[in-house]
Amino acid sequence: MSDRPPRFNHVALSLPPDALRDAGRKEIIDFYSSVFGWDELPTLTEDRKRLVLQAYRYDQFVFLVAEDAPMQSPRMDHFGMAVHSMEQLDELHEKAKRWKEERDDRVDLIEKHADDHGVLKIWSFYVRHLLPMMIEVQFYEIAEDAKELVDEYNREVAERRKRDASEEPAEPEEEPAA
Ligand SMILES: [Fe+2]
Repeated sequence: MSDRPPRFNHVALSLPPDALRDAGRKEIIDFYSSVFGWDELPTLTEDRKRLVLQAYRYDQFVFLVAEDAPMQSPRMDHFGMAVHSMEQLDELHEKAKRWKEERDDRVDLIEKHADDHGVLKIWSFYVRHLLPMMIEVQFYEIAEDAKELVDEYNREVAERRKRDASEEPAEPEEEPAA
């Protein structure tokens, strides 16, 4: 394994075919591009079948696919997206809120709040619109005096990973064909 660990790169969700018609796709694209800055990957769009939204990098995306019996999830089922500053969190929160207040009150929004773990405060808000799952947008606020600890932890994890990689047994030589 290389130095770089695996990471999550996409979410696939199913919707009823009618939600992926012209008008439905337009609504989805409008909201997620205006609020989150995601872009449609037009070459993958198929009417009433598929819509793919690219999120910030070429290999990170939300894959929407039509199903006659699409997924249904409880309100709080969600996937999470991390932001890197409180400003970024507030900016996304504000955009989602404005969309709800000014354009479409179907937007389901759970206002910003924090889970306080002492040295770590996790700030987040939840939003769901037109898709079967909520998105939780999170910002990890680390107390100034704990940053060194977090850096140390990250260094340790990286070193352990390197060590494990170098200890991996070599691939067995291929048996010569009989
Ligand atoms: Fe969560």
